Amino acid sequence: MDFDLLVHNIGQLILPAYTGKSLKGEEMKQLTVKESAAFAVSDGKVTWIGSDAEAKSFNAKVKLDAEEKVVSPGLVDPHTHLVFGGTREHELALKQEGVPYLEILARGGGILSTVEATKNATLQELFDKASFHLERMVSHGTTTIEAKSGYGLERETELKQLRVVKQLNEKYPVSIVSTFLGPHAIPPSYNGKENEFLQDMMGLLEEIKEKNLADFADIFCETGVFSIEQSRLFLQRAKENGFGLKIHADEIDPLGGAELASSLGAASADHLVAASDEGIRMLSESETVAVLLPGTTFYLGKEHYARARKMIDDGAAVALATDFNPGSCVTENLQLIMSLAALKLKMTSEEIWNAVTINAAHAIGKGELAGTLDVGRQADFVVWDVQNYKYIPYHYGVNHAKSVYVSGQIIWE
Ligand code: NIG
Ligand code: FE
Repeated sequence: MDFDLLVHNIGQLILPAYTGKSLKGEEMKQLTVKESAAFAVSDGKVTWIGSDAEAKSFNAKVKLDAEEKVVSPGLVDPHTHLVFGGTREHELALKQEGVPYLEILARGGGILSTVEATKNATLQELFDKASFHLERMVSHGTTTIEAKSGYGLERETELKQLRVVKQLNEKYPVSIVSTFLGPHAIPPSYNGKENEFLQDMMGLLEEIKEKNLADFADIFCETGVFSIEQSRLFLQRAKENGFGLKIHADEIDPLGGAELASSLGAASADHLVAASDEGIRMLSESETVAVLLPGTTFYLGKEHYARARKMIDDGAAVALATDFNPGSCVTENLQLIMSLAALKLKMTSEEIWNAVTINAAHAIGKGELAGTLDVGRQADFVVWDVQNYKYIPYHYGVNHAKSVYVSGQIIWE
């Protein structure tokens, strides 16, 4: 047989299960790890997976010796705020003084400070800055990424952010899923007129859909930001307009965001640090993926993390993401999140790998395309400079990626 690429001498090949749905309960606890493996790629797709011994007789235009290291599918980061202007290192001192995240926002800082900087940046400036962060994500093994707007809070800047995402998707071989997060905060000029602002954001849904600028719609449902009722209104309208649904839910207060997401058939409910028992029960009975963001809990200096153990044991599908943004979690490194998931969420290595691959893909509607390797699938994969898959969550804070491939082509080494 003649292939374009043969990846051989793989110590451990990680193969998350594809069942058509996100993995829950026992399924999420299992991970297929094929030892002494090899796989072949032609026309950008996986054409064969088998043992290294069988592969010895194969011909290929390029042979990649994995040197007995770990190879996994490209990581999927299903929650990022990739496109923004400015930075917020000045808020570190406020955090050290103990000023809470929502208080910084109420004082006109936080998200609102990034909104100012994003408004003042040109599309090209935003594109260049986002490219820098995107390339760093890729260098850490991420090949499929979700990216939200939400630093405009008015038509022109929201569209500018979404256009940046579209252009990034066109320029880079990675796959970027775009989310409209217009209701991310309330601009000061709308204080006391929150419903009017929400109506304005709902008014953008149709245009964004027509211009094909986003696949998902999202809202920050939190005390002092948007209520459950407002979130329901917005998400229902988004659904009518053909958007997939996401929600920043129950991050600080248990408002019932998990319940709302499950009842509306949202693709994901994200954060969930304060999700109620009932919310977790409803998630486990729905197809809504719980996207957990332990990097954010860490970065906000909180003690209590999302109840990942209960979620998984009760049968909810869990995914992990960076939440990369300039305020509440400033890292592009999904491997670091894997370590936090092990240490703070008490997730097993097997659960963690499923959570950053196939379940993350399902959380952004890419379950059929990303998150695992299988014959016929796009060959997006990472060669890791480690001998076994448990090593990555264990050795934290550094980059273990050796080389990163999309469609069988190297994009980083
Ligand atoms: O997911 N919680 C709201 N939004 C982001 C933070 C955005 C920011 O602080 O700039 C989050 O944590
Ligand atoms: Fe977020």
